[in-house]
Amino acid sequence: MTDTTIDPSGDGVALGGRTAEGEDRAPRPAGGRAAIPLLDSVRAHERTSAFIIACDEFLDAQGFTEHGFRHANLVGHIAYNVLTHLGHDQRVTELGAVAGYLHDIGNVISRADHGQTGALLAYDLLKELEVAPADMALVMSAVGNHEEQYGQSVSPVSAAVILGDKSDVHRSRVRKGASIAMDIHDRVNHAVTQSFLRVDADRRTLTLELEIDTEISQVLEYFEIFLERMVMCRRAAATLGCAFKITVNNVPVL
Ligand SMILES: [Fe+2]
Ligand SMILES: [Fe+2]
Repeated sequence: MTDTTIDPSGDGVALGGRTAEGEDRAPRPAGGRAAIPLLDSVRAHERTSAFIIACDEFLDAQGFTEHGFRHANLVGHIAYNVLTHLGHDQRVTELGAVAGYLHDIGNVISRADHGQTGALLAYDLLKELEVAPADMALVMSAVGNHEEQYGQSVSPVSAAVILGDKSDVHRSRVRKGASIAMDIHDRVNHAVTQSFLRVDADRRTLTLELEIDTEISQVLEYFEIFLERMVMCRRAAATLGCAFKITVNNVPVL
């Protein structure tokens, strides 16, 4: 994760995403802390690291896109950045970073209901790290509510994790050997050459900026598979007092 400035164009600040070169970027916001201590403890936790490695292997075996440390770190940092830019206090921003990092850990048990199982795995970890119960509740509820099948944006932490997770669509998440022609999820991800989430704190907008190669996948295909996720992002943005917008190839579509 680099801290270099990313695309400065457009209004507001790019919170994070993946570049055309496939690099993940989530620059630390001005005024954000140099370190996020609880996130550092979670990242250093050996069992948690082993589970994230296993999650990625198991999801690969099931034909899903990349869900390893890159996705975990990116979602954690985007959640942290969203909350920091919108003026939330340090405790909330730190819990957002941790919840984002942990959100997919339930996949070590099974894909089905991985939000629920992940919340319980997070409980064990946070208890071990002696996190205050009220803080554990914010992380567990964010992990347990991040999936579109049943998730609800129940708090600012939960909303920030939803936005970080659902905005991580990019060709660098497609596995080697994936069937672009046959699988619509792989095709749409492969077609997204750049994706960033941008915040404009003054206008209270959160914008998902996508560059899509329409020779690979039509924009309609993106919405065909991600409509539920985008509806979830709209609700999450509303929880944060913001409107949710999408641009595709610099054209506003929402
Ligand atoms: Fe997930
Ligand atoms: Fe995820």
